[in-house]
Order: sequence, then structure tokens, then C-alpha cells
Amino acid sequence: MCGIVGYIGNTKAYPILINGLQKLEYRGYDSAGVSTIENEKIACIKNKGRVKELDNMEGTHFLEGTVGIAHTRWATHGKPSSINSHPHLDSSETFSAVHNGIIENYNELREFLTNAGYKFLSETDTEVIPNLIHYYYTKETGNNEDRFVHAVSRATKDFKGSYAIAVLCKLEPDKIVVARKDNPLVLGAKDNEMYIASDIPAILEYTNNIYILNDGDLAELKAGSVKFYDKDFNSIEKTPEIITWDAKAADKNGYDDFMLKEINEQPTAIRETIGTRLVKGGKCNFDDINITKDFLLGINRIYIVACGTAMHAGIAAKPLFERLAGIPVEVDIASEFRYREPLIDEKTLIICISQSGETADTLAALKNSKAMGCKTIAISNVIGSSITREADFTVYTHAGPEIAVASTKAYTSQVTVLALLAIHFAEVLGSRETALIETLKDEILELPSKASIVLENTDMLKEFAKRIYKEKDVFYIGRGSDYAAAVESSLKLKEISYVHSDAYQSGELKHGSIALIENDITVIGIMTDRRLVEKSVSNLQEVITRGAKTLIVTNQDLDTKLFPNILRIPEINTLLSPVIAVIPLQLLAYFVSKEKGLDPDKPRNLAKSVTVE
Ligand code: F6R
Repeated sequence: MCGIVGYIGNTKAYPILINGLQKLEYRGYDSAGVSTIENEKIACIKNKGRVKELDNMEGTHFLEGTVGIAHTRWATHGKPSSINSHPHLDSSETFSAVHNGIIENYNELREFLTNAGYKFLSETDTEVIPNLIHYYYTKETGNNEDRFVHAVSRATKDFKGSYAIAVLCKLEPDKIVVARKDNPLVLGAKDNEMYIASDIPAILEYTNNIYILNDGDLAELKAGSVKFYDKDFNSIEKTPEIITWDAKAADKNGYDDFMLKEINEQPTAIRETIGTRLVKGGKCNFDDINITKDFLLGINRIYIVACGTAMHAGIAAKPLFERLAGIPVEVDIASEFRYREPLIDEKTLIICISQSGETADTLAALKNSKAMGCKTIAISNVIGSSITREADFTVYTHAGPEIAVASTKAYTSQVTVLALLAIHFAEVLGSRETALIETLKDEILELPSKASIVLENTDMLKEFAKRIYKEKDVFYIGRGSDYAAAVESSLKLKEISYVHSDAYQSGELKHGSIALIENDITVIGIMTDRRLVEKSVSNLQEVITRGAKTLIVTNQDLDTKLFPNILRIPEINTLLSPVIAVIPLQLLAYFVSKEKGLDPDKPRNLAKSVTVE
């Protein structure tokens, strides 16, 4: 998705802007551009293609200005092209703007501005932004001091949709003005320098002093100072948050790819996510969200709402909440949930899961549900992200920045924190499942070391990847919690290796889809539930009889004649097994992608954070 970087200070902006754009490349984009103030004029260089190509364009290295903005675009309105790339200038070339999000009423605004004499060059919705700012700058000014920021504030009142914007004005060359609504934007402060970014990793190597903008906020930045305004243009105060991720955490750290690095970071991510929420012999600690017994007794249904991998974490969490807290759980896809008129009242609890905290569908589902009177909990990996500001309570995963598009460590951290939360609910409610709860707590504390063990066992997976990388279809099957791991593992394979795959509850395969099983097709079975192992073996026999070759991820003792490819994982309660069983299959997907010569970090057609519907 689109990325924004900005800088205002006393050193050349251009290298900082390019460096920041490179840090945001993981979000997915098709064009890149940069604008700086050069001798009181606006320079703007942009084109479709990669950031490296922008950096090779004529003129970029002559940019000397100390004030600038930059952008990576992922096309929504208008094809990828130089004209459609950001930054966009107004007709008089007084303002330059970069924008993430969608201005839904841009046709209407464009018509209004065209009638007022403005000329448009691109097919984008964004081009109305600098023009409308120019319109208000010349027509409806505040006092001289804040004329620029006031014009931006006035323009944003006319926007319908979502935006994070950063704007330069050649008449006020010592300022950048930013604004945001439903799209992330943060500011970094360091001595006499200010940084702007849509995502913290873009500026983390310069500062960890981060201001987070709320919906509707604006800011006027100068070298070394910043003034904040709310949506009604009232002056507001903000204090920066200290972000504890170090810049190194956002680098590859010696691994070939971010995805491999992040898969290997899972023991740490899980450990950090457990943090002080659970210590040996203690109860789960969620003092920060103050969930009382009365509150839980008043809840008769939980909806877990999320997209993609985060939704799969919800599938893994459902049996934990149902078994431990005794509350029925439905897991919903956010893009469906927001429109399907779910049964929500004050007895409903919504848990929204989002690594980025910015996924448009999840955010909308959360907002809609809140408006219907229920309580909401956000699970997110990004401090201050949009869903965390909307929800009544927030629980963070501490997976660190996830750069690869395909989610890995965020997923295992999400399942871990949801398991802790389910146990917390059970403990608050005084559940009678005390033996199970104590076992699960001990096992949660062992998850980091079990994840490390699984990560040591890669040779067999590399070999298996070599056998299957040319295949067209792969099937994943599992029962109960193993199905949760199956569906997530299947998504990993699809998204980074472009091999079609599907996941089924093992017992369901015979009700139709088994017709697809033919000679030499690959079926990956996950088996961690001792109670169901015989049933799962029978299901696998059904596919073996039809010629399938299998890979089995299990902690059970199985007949190696029947199953020649067994990937053993440590003993684990099946309720927690998705955290561990998914790891070898994340690796398998990664190795298949590499065998095919693909870039696992940047799969085609995908973006890290999906902030449009
Ligand atoms: C898949 C993947 C996506 C995300 C989904 C939700 O590997 O990363 O399916 O899980 O787009 O993203 P968040 O969690 O940021 O809301």
C-alpha cells in the first residue's frame, strides 16, 4: 500500500526521504516520487517503478533542499504512471502533496475546482488535495501565521473518505503541514529535525521519539518544532511516545529475506508477547484492560473479527475461549461482518485482531459494532494504530515490526495472546477447568523454546519443497485446532509461492473435495490431537489410497511405512498447537517460494497493510 515519508531540518532532505521510502518498500507499491523546496520553488520528481529507479532519475541528486516529502504509490485511481504518481502539485505549483487513502468525493471536488479555473493533469483522486488547499489558501485565510495549516484544515473538512497527507507550500518554505483520518501517520522528533512517516520503521533509525496523530488531527512542522490541531482547528498538546523497537529490528539482520528473519524471530516474539502477562505459578495478568467478572457474566457471545492471517488466529482462538471461558464464539471475516448486520447488543463482545491496526475492513467492522452498543477489544502489534484508538480495550502483541508481506510472527503472537486472554477470562469467571488451565499456562511458557526446536529442523522441509515446487495444487488437512494451523499454512503457500492450495477439516474432505485427489498430489496433514489421531489417520488413508503423497506434521507416534514424510514437532496441548504446527509449514512455503525463484517478501498483488476496502 502507499507509503509517506517527510523531513524538515537542517540537512539535505533527499537522502533521508529515499532511505525512508526504501524502508517502506515492503508495503507494496508501483510508483515513487519526491518533492523538496529548492530556492523557494517546488521540485518534484516521480515515476512509476521502484524507489531505486527514482533514485537513478535525472535531477534527484541535485536536490539540496532541507524540506521535503516523498511517496510510494499503489494504484487505486488511475494506472501506474509518472503523471499519476505522487507528489501532486496544484495548478499554480504552489503546493505539493502526498496522500495515502481515498478521497471518495473527488469527482465532485474536481468539478468544483475545474469550474473555479483549476486544471487537472492526472486521473487520481489525490490531485484535488493540493488544488483545494490552494483554493482555501487564496480565498479563506486565517491569520497570517497559520494561513497554510488553516487552509489544509479547511480543505480536509471537504474530504469524504480517508487520508494521511503531507503538504509543502513554496510561499511558506520553512513548513510542512500534515493531516490524517483513517490512515496512519506518525511524526518523529529529534533536536532540530522533524520526520514524517506512514509507518514507524521508515524513520526509526533517526528517532524513536514518535508523535501519533489521531483521526482528524493536523500538525504544522518546522525544523525542531511542531504545533498540533484537532479537526475543529483547536490547538492541542501532544507528548511523544518512546518506541522501543530499535532500527536494527527493521533490517534483515543477516537473513536472505525478511520473511525468513521473521519466521526465526518467533521464539522471541512469543516470549515478548507473553511478557509479564504470565509468570510461572501465577495467574494471567491483564490488569491493563480491567475486565471484571460482572462484565464477563454479562457477555453471551464473542465475535472475533479480522482479515486473512489475523482471522486465522481467531479460528485458533475460538476453541480456547469456548472451552475455557464457556462463551460461544463466532469468527467472522471483517469485510463480511461489516455488512452482514450481525446480532450485536450490549451482551456481545467484539475482539478485533489486526497486526497493522490499520486494515480498513477490520476498522470499519469495529466502528460499526461499537456504534451498536457492544464492548470491543483490539489485538494489535502497532502502538497507537487506528483500531487501538477505537476499541474500548487494547491488548498488544509484541512481535516487533513485521516487514515481509506474509504474516508469520504476528500470527503466532496473536494466537499466544488470545490464549492468555481466554485463560484470563476463565480465571476471572472462576472456571472449573483448573487442571486444564494450569497445564495450558505451563505450556504457554514453553512455547518459545518449542518454537526454537521446530526452527532447527529445516533440512527435510527444504527437500520436500524441492519435490513439490512445480505442483499446481496442494491440500492441507487437520481436525479441531489443527484445522486452524492448516488454513493458515495453506494461505502462506498460496501467497508467496503462487501454488494453489486449500485447507479442509480432515473429515470434510470426503464430502466432495476428495474428487480432486489424484495420483501424486500432495496432502499435508496436521495431527496434534491425541483423541482424534485415529480418525485423522483414516482420513489420510483415504487420500493415500487415491495416490496422494503426504507430509505429516505431528507430535504423535505414527506408522512410518504409511507416512514416510513425518515432521515431528514437540509434545503440545492441541489447543495451543497452531502456534507450533504452523512454523514448519511457514518454512515450507518459504522454501517453495525460493525454489521457484520468487521474492517471498514482496508477493505479487499483495500489500502489507490493506487500508482500502
Ligand atoms: C497474510 C497477511 C494478511 C493479513 C491481513 C490482515 O500473510 O498478512 O492476510 O493478515 O491483511 O492484516 P492486519 O493483521 O494488519 O489487519
